Amino acid sequence: MIQDVLDAVAHLRRGHIVVFPTETVYGAGVDASNAAAVARLYAAKGRPAHNPLIIHVPDITAAKALAVWNADAQSLAEAFWPGALTIILPRILGCCVADNACAGLETLAVRVPDHPQAQTLLRAFGAPIAAPSANISGRLSPTSVLAVKDLFTGQADYILQDDTGCRVGLESTIVDLSDAAGWQILRHGAVRAEQIEAVLGAPSLAKRITTIKAPGMLLKHYAPTKPLRLNAVSVNVDEGLLAFGDDVPKGAAVMLNLSPAGDMDEAARHLYAYLHQLDQDVRCRSLAVMPIPDNGMGVAVRDRLMRAAQK
Ligand code: TXA
Ligand code: MG
Repeated sequence: MIQDVLDAVAHLRRGHIVVFPTETVYGAGVDASNAAAVARLYAAKGRPAHNPLIIHVPDITAAKALAVWNADAQSLAEAFWPGALTIILPRILGCCVADNACAGLETLAVRVPDHPQAQTLLRAFGAPIAAPSANISGRLSPTSVLAVKDLFTGQADYILQDDTGCRVGLESTIVDLSDAAGWQILRHGAVRAEQIEAVLGAPSLAKRITTIKAPGMLLKHYAPTKPLRLNAVSVNVDEGLLAFGDDVPKGAAVMLNLSPAGDMDEAARHLYAYLHQLDQDVRCRSLAVMPIPDNGMGVAVRDRLMRAAQK
């Protein structure tokens, strides 16, 4: 086993916060069974105690020890795990996960990441890791070690380095399977609604119109510190422009292009990194982003941008 993974495991065993890469964004992990470590993690992020954490495990077998499994969960897990999908299920009472990691809810969010280093860490630790994104609550999520250092501002006890980065660049899709009335997407991500529908069938109409259940989802979130303007077709001289495609308005103080070729996956991969870069750039006082198409990963990108732009 490589030494840095062993070091990370030793930190987790001591109740420390270990930042590690996943294919979506960097996570700030603690031993999910250690309530004191979980409480420290909430404090480090400035996260409200009512916003539960995602529990990371290496495989389906480990997930079944925490969540009341069903046929839909099995189908989704077989189709998309390991990968960028989080599943919400009823929590097995008395499972090892500390109550405060689930914010006292009767449900539990579980994910099997496919990043090799996340997998190695989970297997070496041998127990579930509770891990939110490695940022201060409400802010941009980091997709590189450098961004972790800026966005998690010294809150980590240990950072597991990697050289492959975050392939997806946006947080996992969250699907709620805890309600017998039908499934529901609580957060859009790389596993798209139509892919889930292809496995589970259409969600019932009644479920589609219920209010969003993920406690973190209604807030202003994923936000840079500078104001962000959406659907920009022209720019001001003091703005940092986040462009998309090859038809870019001129005149911004600084411009970064999410994907000159108009590739949505590439745009998602760059989104947080470029927002962070513009946020730090002294040449611009506010940010503007060009219109993003509502297809493929565009659905998740637009969702994050809409929250990031909330006043
Ligand atoms: O890609 C990801 O999911 C990343 C990486 C590190 O795995 N993690 C992540 O965690 O994005 P976080 O804490 O930033 O977002 C977790 C979301 C929150 O909106 C939370 O409210 C929701 O999951 N959540 C967790 N448990 C839930 C539950 N039982 N019911 C509904 N929503 C839940
Ligand atoms: Mg987060």
